[in-house]
Amino acid sequence: MSEGPATPLVTAPVAAGERQAGAHSATEEVVVLDYGGQYSQLIARRVRDCGVFSELLPHDTSPDELARRAPRGIVLSGGPASVYADGAPRLDRRLLELGIPVLGICYGMQLLVHELGGRVEEAEVGEFGRSDLGVLAPGRLLAGMPREQTCWMSHRDTVFEAPHGFTALASSTASPVAAIEDAERGIYGIQFHPEVVHTPYGQEILERFLTDICGCDRSWSAASVIDEQVKRIREQVGEGRVICGLSGGVDSSVAALLVHRAVGDRLTCVFVDHGLMRKDEGEQVVGAFRDTFKVPLVAVDAEERFLAKLAGVTDPEAKRKAIGSEFIRVFEEEASRLASLHGGEDARFLVQGTLYSDVIESGGGKGAATIKSHHNVAGLPDDLRFELVEPLRMLFKDEVRAVGAELGLPERLVWRQPFPGPGLAIRVVGGEATKERLDVLREADHILQDEIRRAGLYRELWQSFCVLPDVRTVGVQGDERTYGHVVVVRAVTSDDAMTADWARLPYDLLETIASRMMGELREVNRVVLDITSKPPGTIEWE
Ligand code: XMP
Repeated sequence: MSEGPATPLVTAPVAAGERQAGAHSATEEVVVLDYGGQYSQLIARRVRDCGVFSELLPHDTSPDELARRAPRGIVLSGGPASVYADGAPRLDRRLLELGIPVLGICYGMQLLVHELGGRVEEAEVGEFGRSDLGVLAPGRLLAGMPREQTCWMSHRDTVFEAPHGFTALASSTASPVAAIEDAERGIYGIQFHPEVVHTPYGQEILERFLTDICGCDRSWSAASVIDEQVKRIREQVGEGRVICGLSGGVDSSVAALLVHRAVGDRLTCVFVDHGLMRKDEGEQVVGAFRDTFKVPLVAVDAEERFLAKLAGVTDPEAKRKAIGSEFIRVFEEEASRLASLHGGEDARFLVQGTLYSDVIESGGGKGAATIKSHHNVAGLPDDLRFELVEPLRMLFKDEVRAVGAELGLPERLVWRQPFPGPGLAIRVVGGEATKERLDVLREADHILQDEIRRAGLYRELWQSFCVLPDVRTVGVQGDERTYGHVVVVRAVTSDDAMTADWARLPYDLLETIASRMMGELREVNRVVLDITSKPPGTIEWE
């Protein structure tokens, strides 16, 4: 066993055709073979941070497929298995004969050692967390780096002897052999994790591998994706018409701008204002797209329709369903209206802001069916008649933001916090999302956003929002007794929404937020703070 908690082997094969949909083709790339480690995705991200495009592929990708792709280097990730256990993921020896440099990390290194005749065994003491690393012989991989450094470890199985022909480069507190190389064959291994920040020289080691050993020219950047994608979109779409459901989120915004750059006015964006957006958000989206970018945009004011569908609905999932199906109805109506405007020509293509993390999490399959419903624009159905255009399919979220900034998307949209498709409706909790309640919530939320931005905390928070429970409390304002709404303030930090912690907002800021809400909003006489982490809570209340 080489890593802590076992995570599933998440990646699925990327079929040849699917790669077409990717960000990338001609540029050099480094492949990360995923043995199921918790940091596998992070390795690909760090490689990209070095200016080299990187993709995560399943560990059993065949050597023939790898030869066809001809990456500059191959990284074998960590993973939860033990190399000597039955059924443990293996290494195909032919991979080492492709003449492509290989770097094994953690389980990846143990696999190399085991396969090539060295000794890997379970140690009495595991090594988890920070560890001291002593460089014995720097070799090519660690040349010029300090003899004493710290690193981050997460393993119980340990390498006791390097295989024949290899040099043991370093040892650590509990690993007699913590780094190895056979420079002649281009095979390298490190037991520690260079991809995490707790390994101070980690990024330098990765850079060494990518530049000195793999010979990468490091010319990839999120911005360099733009030209490549524009070309691909043109190839895919030809002379066809494209439609895009714009939500105001950064993913659909960046995807729409890329497509617009590629096909110009053959793209039409549809922005459905369901009346459940934040204050002024609709205007901002319409302003940016229609006025600044001159993207053909249909803005549908559908507030009344949505409120009518939400009347009497209190169950959270029923709310989501009502909103989702109404959204599809409005969207389809607009699509056929547009077709009649375009002489009966239907849009054949639909833009989706699917990200690389969605592709990995959903098993790498193709098409709408594999996209998590959370990531859909308010949940488009699987049986859509459109062909999907997914220009962000190869990008991580921070790369999407970089592309957005490069394309001139306003800072406010580039850095927008995630916002759920069903919007404020699932933040009016335990009751019906009426216009009156939504308006109170929207105003309270506006004050919160305003103060959070003023305090310079907006980007640090994964999400910050208000919740309006169906509860009234007694208060006294002026000389009057009141019976008003309670507003809950929820602010969380998170990396991916899978786990989250409540943000420690400064007391003074909380005080300002609360007094503004109670002073400016007649209906509100109490403000409370949610201090629940996830787990056990969720980020949203419904
Ligand atoms: P929870 O509440 O499950 O939320 O911790 C995790 C992330 O998902 C968002 N979320 C949604 N997004 N439709 C969406 O598009 C939804 O129905 C929905 N519910 C939750 C939530 O805002 C958080 O970022």
